[in-house]
Amino acid sequence: MADAQTATHAPTITRREDYRAPDWRVPEIALDFDLDPASTRVRATLWVERNGVHDAPLRLDGDGLTPASVRVDGADFADWSMDGPALLIPLGGSAHTIETEVVIAPERNTQLQGLYASQGMLCTQCEAEGFRRITFFPDRPDVLSRYKVRMTADKARFPVLLANGDPIAQGDGEDGTHWAEWHDPFPKPSYLFALVAGDLVANRGTFTTMSGRDVALGIWVRAPDLAKTDHALHALKLSMAWDEKVYGREYDLDVFNIVAVDDFNFGAMENKGLNVFNSRYILADPDTATDYDYDAIAAVVAHEYFHNWSGNRITCRDWFQLSLKEGFTVFRDQGFSADQGSAAVKRIEDVRGLRASQFPEDAGPLAHPIRPDEYIEIGNFYTATIYNKGAEVIRMMATILGPEKFRAATDLYFERFDGTAATCEDFVQSMEEGGGVDLTQFRRWYSQAGTPRVSATLAQEGGRARLSLRQSVPPTPGQPVKEPMVLPLKLRLFGAITGRALCEEQLILLDRPEHEVVFENLPETPVLSINRGFSAPVIVETNRTAQDLAFLSAHDDDPFARYEAMQQLMLDTLVASVANGAADHGAVIDAVRNTLGDARMDPAFIAEAVLLPSEAFIGDQMAVVDPEAIFRAREALRADLGRALEGEWRAAYEGAAAERFEYSPAAKGARRISSVALGYIAAGGAADAAELAFAQFERADNMTDRHAALTTLANGVSPLREAALEAFYKRYAGNGLVLDKWFQTQALSSRDDTAQVVEGLVNHPDFTLANPNRARALIGAFSVNQRAFHDISGRGYRFVADQMIALDRLNPQTAAKLIPPLGRWKRFDAARAAKMRAELERIVAAPGLSKDMFEQASKSLD
Ligand code: TRP
Ligand code: ZN
Repeated sequence: MADAQTATHAPTITRREDYRAPDWRVPEIALDFDLDPASTRVRATLWVERNGVHDAPLRLDGDGLTPASVRVDGADFADWSMDGPALLIPLGGSAHTIETEVVIAPERNTQLQGLYASQGMLCTQCEAEGFRRITFFPDRPDVLSRYKVRMTADKARFPVLLANGDPIAQGDGEDGTHWAEWHDPFPKPSYLFALVAGDLVANRGTFTTMSGRDVALGIWVRAPDLAKTDHALHALKLSMAWDEKVYGREYDLDVFNIVAVDDFNFGAMENKGLNVFNSRYILADPDTATDYDYDAIAAVVAHEYFHNWSGNRITCRDWFQLSLKEGFTVFRDQGFSADQGSAAVKRIEDVRGLRASQFPEDAGPLAHPIRPDEYIEIGNFYTATIYNKGAEVIRMMATILGPEKFRAATDLYFERFDGTAATCEDFVQSMEEGGGVDLTQFRRWYSQAGTPRVSATLAQEGGRARLSLRQSVPPTPGQPVKEPMVLPLKLRLFGAITGRALCEEQLILLDRPEHEVVFENLPETPVLSINRGFSAPVIVETNRTAQDLAFLSAHDDDPFARYEAMQQLMLDTLVASVANGAADHGAVIDAVRNTLGDARMDPAFIAEAVLLPSEAFIGDQMAVVDPEAIFRAREALRADLGRALEGEWRAAYEGAAAERFEYSPAAKGARRISSVALGYIAAGGAADAAELAFAQFERADNMTDRHAALTTLANGVSPLREAALEAFYKRYAGNGLVLDKWFQTQALSSRDDTAQVVEGLVNHPDFTLANPNRARALIGAFSVNQRAFHDISGRGYRFVADQMIALDRLNPQTAAKLIPPLGRWKRFDAARAAKMRAELERIVAAPGLSKDMFEQASKSLD
């Protein structure tokens, strides 16, 4: 097997403009697996057809494969050759049958791409280029084939054998083996191939589609986990119904299976009829999963299910089109989640996520457009830009079209491109035709990287107000000069005295560098509410005063705009405090008191609105990030809020106490506000804060409350901290997903000794880099703990670089995801920047570095 990495110092760059249709098509493939963790024999039969007039040989991608035999049209064939890892077969006719045989070793596959072993089961992960680690094939998304799969395995070890499509036949073989055959009638690209073999049980259900077909649903897990699968199964049924109702999309096979695996590089994978999931996005019960986990499970189940249409029925022509399926599918799953509970809270969470991961990406060395122009390793382009900015771009088109036309346009898209490998351009054209709009200039969202900035200045002259809008897009690597974008900005004016709306909400399409809007006959001084609902993924700067922001935080009728106004008020205060060493906290305290006391608002919304911006987001506002000063300013404001509003926090805390656990929007909102209140009570230095947290920790009948209490204690200095961490560890010994929380909570701690604690935890018997969830829980979490990671000594940088180098030898894809925090060196002072660069240089020089890491680390040095 090819797990040994080969140093890639002149890596190949793949370019979008070099796209060419495939020389050979493969309409049919039959795969025959003799499954065994140590040695699996894979026989593939490909029916190939020449595509057009050319004399190119058949090129079959491989990665670490050696052909044990090659046959053409039923006869042994000796004329093949290897071109690096690929197999070349010269062919004379227009159609041939190719048979190859290889042997692979799933148990030695630590990259978790291709066929690998996880906790005694065998499973696959083929997106983006894992199929070539299983068999020789033109491993590109525009080669669509009908798959027949036969699997043979030891019946005792692997009683369950699953693959894409429908089960056709099964039986017992010799020597304790059994076999199963699955056929998938829908032509699909190789990245959607999947098989699973293991000792699994299913939580079964059925869904009757809108045309009356029954679909057999199964959530497959190891027997002890069966009781934790009801929520995922329920979410699956809700998703299937939602896609019928909202997009008119019906499921198309007789079975839909999901398998949960513990070792997985991403969240989950949409393989046709056989989704494979990271177990953290399936398993939940009140004792082990937080409300956040429950929501994430429903969102990921929906996301992967929605890919059946946006990804599988219509796939991507090439990997540069990745946002075609990912941006659209994220937009679809966001809509689903918004419909399950509070749409306002969902929008707040999504925007917070965008600002935490996508804005920094767009402002840093790895910035790329949602349709990139080139890559070295496609695995590095499963980014917040492709996924989340991609979703924002779809959202803007939906906003411009309006709901009816957007639905007509998606219907047209699904109808026209069904069964094909399509492009982003195909999608935009469908929007234009179905919506009757011209998106020529809007297309710049696909080609220009960087977060646009809008400055909005409102000037009043008597009964008139003039709104001056100005846009600019910052330079990004390879794109020094930018053209103006189309920015859909929802805005409204409110009267500063009465709080009444002075006009209807308007949608302005800002498509020039500068634009002016005049409002006439205003009866009172207007206050500007802009980018309502976050209608455009941009940074808005306004000339609004602290008073205006406080006013909007109390009176705006758009809950997102209320949240934004409060955030901006907090941010302005914190930035001033960092600059001056202190700031007047009065306006923030008053605004928070107001929001907390607003009985009309949903507690779930209030809980989000009263949270301070993260340390990282405060840093993003500054020319040079000062992690210590930001930490101190934020802690000081938290402490003041905690003290000044102690009575309010205690009332909110006690008012939210529940009799028994329930998973409902109202109960979730109550738990959320109580966790936030507990945090503020502790921040204010209340003498009983640790006892309060510890009592909650012990009494809790659910993980949300228990984990909130643990987090509060883990950030503090009380001796109860150790007791809680130890009790938590003992209670959940053997539960990997909960142990991840135990590691992560310590890595995110705001204590002074976090770096030291984390360095010790890598030697903990439960720590391993081989499990991606565990590696992310400790190393990934620590590297986004801004103050701890950026300790002036540089020990945080050194530690994370050491771990990344070690992880790269096992799992390059997961290791490379950890590069971005180090790559932000330009945002820090010279002393930190030099230390961060030195670590990146050490990584680039590491012997045997993967191309994944090479691409991310070397680009981060530029
Ligand atoms: N298509 C998957 C999703 O969006 C992403 C994914 C899962 C993936 N596993 C992967 C991408 C491995 C690259 C490599 O849900
Ligand atoms: Zn996806």
